[in-house]
Amino acid sequence: MDKNRRKFLTYVGTGVTAMTVASTGLGLLAPKAGAEEKISASSHLFGFDKKVSGLQFTPIKPTAKDEVVLPNGFTYDVVAAYGDVINQKGETFGFNNDFTMYLPINGSNKHGLLWVNHEYSSDVFVTGPKQNGAYTSEQIKKILEVQGGSIIEIQQDEEGVWKMKTDSKYARRITGLTPFELRGPAAGSAAVNGATTVQGTFANCSGGMTPWNTVLSCEENYESTSREAGLDETHYGWVVEIDPFDESFTPRKHTGLGRFNHENAAVGLANDGRLVVYMGDDKRNAGVYKYISKDKYVAANGKQNSRLLDEGTLYVADMKKGRWIPLTLDVVREAANGEADLLAKFQTQADICVHTHEAAMLVGGTPTDRPEDVEISPFDKTIFIAHTNNDQHGNIHGHITRFIEKNDDLGSTEFYFEIFAAGGPQSGFSAPDNLTFDSDANLWTVTDISSGSLNKDVFEPFANNGMFVIPTLGDKTGEAYQFASGPVESEMTGPWFTPDETTLFIAVQHPGENTTDINNPTSMWPHRQGDTMPRPAVIAIKGFRY
Ligand code: FEO
Ligand code: CA
Ligand code: CA
Ligand code: CA
Repeated sequence: MDKNRRKFLTYVGTGVTAMTVASTGLGLLAPKAGAEEKISASSHLFGFDKKVSGLQFTPIKPTAKDEVVLPNGFTYDVVAAYGDVINQKGETFGFNNDFTMYLPINGSNKHGLLWVNHEYSSDVFVTGPKQNGAYTSEQIKKILEVQGGSIIEIQQDEEGVWKMKTDSKYARRITGLTPFELRGPAAGSAAVNGATTVQGTFANCSGGMTPWNTVLSCEENYESTSREAGLDETHYGWVVEIDPFDESFTPRKHTGLGRFNHENAAVGLANDGRLVVYMGDDKRNAGVYKYISKDKYVAANGKQNSRLLDEGTLYVADMKKGRWIPLTLDVVREAANGEADLLAKFQTQADICVHTHEAAMLVGGTPTDRPEDVEISPFDKTIFIAHTNNDQHGNIHGHITRFIEKNDDLGSTEFYFEIFAAGGPQSGFSAPDNLTFDSDANLWTVTDISSGSLNKDVFEPFANNGMFVIPTLGDKTGEAYQFASGPVESEMTGPWFTPDETTLFIAVQHPGENTTDINNPTSMWPHRQGDTMPRPAVIAIKGFRY
């Protein structure tokens, strides 16, 4: 273990991860530009001496194998798969797992809770087809039950194999039926039809971690489930917060963070201590957002800090002017320019919270190419955004954009940006999606070529979806190295390292997605004995050496 890694780990080991590191500034690992120095992309790209030392693997080649393929020396355990019993009540692991977040128990890297998102259901594998053009009430119940999230307790046994502890006192499900509290400006407003409590969460894509150790889970493509279940659409499309350790913490939806097709929520601190949350809106021609709390984060306040998400300002990025535009009532109404229908639509801050995308485009937010995961570099506080693709712009393979905030301050309202890495045969990856950092400043990205496009036409060279490692410092900056390949028609989602980086959790989502006949599935992953169909499952990858 080199010195820098150890130093970094002493920070991530506190369970606060990027937050602490980001808020301490660059001084730890890299020469810091003087505060008065003008911000420039080159100072971030080339100004650091740090050597990339974390590439301790031989990259794999793209493959269409129905297996999780890893570099030599790496293995994986299946931790939990769809339908597995997770607790004594007999609750079961949901479908299409996505975001994962490991929460150590007593600081352990071998024993903890794992939060897992469940994003959507499947006619073939979960409910069976609609009856006479609509789901039955039984099917609707099932669709709501398999989405949301799972809290599972996991531990490595004496052989180092990760196993679920079904006798856990913590293990439980959060589903489309769990009661939630609405918080922030839209709670109780006419814009959400007066609701202060709402039913359930679903379409849970990616998420994030708060510095007070709770989970943020993001409602992405909520439209079909809310429509089919006859639920009020304005109650979905939010960032929700859950405390995996504490069932008495009522799950909540934070309306201050806006309502759109939320991919994830990356949390950091401004230089003055205010909380900052970066967010992507995963659709074509959509904005990149950040929220800045009104008050400052106080570590000693613990979970009381959750209220920082109730009061603050939501901004959308104007990439042409390099400015964050506040989505406040006066700014939005001014942009309405006297148009009666717009003035009628945006009468209160709650209206802006509920119709965020429309307000953001109105004020001059830049429409971008499916902004998915956003991560804050713990090394230099630059912001990485996966722009998956946008066939309407001829952006077939997507790219990773990097925002450089003025004065390296997440609280800044000005920024520069660059295209950090572009998808395509020249880089080896296409359709970047979730992102995470390791302590050697490598950015890990998984890919999300749609199941209908995989292994054909211009996507053929990439074979199955996979996982790539891209250094963000040093002479290999921006080069992608393939670390993993997923099973047939799957997507690897929600990468999360244990604090010591000896285990990497990944949720393998929708293996065999194009299956039309359950008796003849296109994938059988994870190939467990006795199984007759493929199952989305979370795996734990081991073999990291330092
Ligand atoms: Fe659910 Fe944007 O991926
Ligand atoms: Ca995603
Ligand atoms: Ca995606
Ligand atoms: Ca997907």
